[in-house]
Amino acid sequence: MNMTKLTNSALFLFLILIGLNTNTFAQTGNSAFEPGQVWKDDKGVHINAHGGGILYHKGTYYWFGEHKVIGRIGNTAQVGVHTYSSKDLYNWKDEGVALKVSEDANSDIVKGSVIERPKVVYNAKTKKFVMWFHLELKGQGYKAARAGVATSDQITGPYTFIKSYRPNAAQLPFYTADVKESEKVNCEQPANTYDGYFCRDLPGGQMARDMTVFVDDDGKAYHVFAAEENFTLNIAELSSDYASHTGKFIRMQVGFQTEAPALFKRNGKYYMVGSGCTGWDPNPARWFVSDSIWGKWQYKGNPCIGEGSNLTYGGQSTHVLPIQGKKDAFIFMADKWKPENPIDGRYLWLPITFKGDDMEISWRDKWDLSIFKK
Ligand code: DGJ
Repeated sequence: MNMTKLTNSALFLFLILIGLNTNTFAQTGNSAFEPGQVWKDDKGVHINAHGGGILYHKGTYYWFGEHKVIGRIGNTAQVGVHTYSSKDLYNWKDEGVALKVSEDANSDIVKGSVIERPKVVYNAKTKKFVMWFHLELKGQGYKAARAGVATSDQITGPYTFIKSYRPNAAQLPFYTADVKESEKVNCEQPANTYDGYFCRDLPGGQMARDMTVFVDDDGKAYHVFAAEENFTLNIAELSSDYASHTGKFIRMQVGFQTEAPALFKRNGKYYMVGSGCTGWDPNPARWFVSDSIWGKWQYKGNPCIGEGSNLTYGGQSTHVLPIQGKKDAFIFMADKWKPENPIDGRYLWLPITFKGDDMEISWRDKWDLSIFKK
């Protein structure tokens, strides 16, 4: 072999090695958000993390969401929970499947079950990452209405499934001092349909469907979920390891049918954005505010303005992301579902603007983080 041939072969080998590192050759080069468009990861594939949430950890954002597949079957869990990482929020690296569905027919998370709205939080005491999700048992539609939990020592997984259950069995709600006796649930004589559902589910635990998890500044974590046949949201305290419920919870917006909750904190106030309850179809978003996690939560109407605002621009909330290092910078994250072909579901990320303590969301075709002040 002469020198030129040798150099060429070495160069060829070098290029192959670099090419194997997908990150090197498949730069996505995004520098803006384009809500509703195909959003490619570092492999050139549309991001597959629906109903997702984002955890910021040690300088990197990690996006966790439902891995959907082609066709109607894609609304059930065929793969698991997918995760991606990013430093700039525009360009996402595929980090693989964080929680895999099980092949064991006896597992709660067997392939074909329903795993929705996964959210991951980090427990600084146990140094574990804790993933909560809405779980429906295979073949039972949306009847099981359970909360599922999985943990991992590494942020990207693999996560180990721990258990699924209906939270707060045999526990009555916590009421702040200002709640009148007449407003409290009375299981001797339930006052309305949703109180009836609450009392029906008291022995076995409350239904837990659409959900999010929120960690407060003091390290306490809360699980927010749609209970009582989706009539009422519960805000429930999690144990110090974040892996179970303590039994302390409130019923929030009783009978108002709020789904898709996303919780965040700004200037010491708690904000929640959610949706109405219309299956995969969009409806107007709604927001609430409170001085305490335990209420009283105040309903503030639809945060969206302008054209398309009456249907949340075709989307449904899933998470509100605080931008690190910037004040008053929050991204409203929503899903534009495609129930006929869920893998093609799109992401609507829009900036939240504040007028005093009030929040607003408006449509943008394309935008970037420079719109937020320092
Ligand atoms: C609306 C919920 O927000 C989604 O997560 C999903 O459960 C659909 N309903 C199912 O119809």
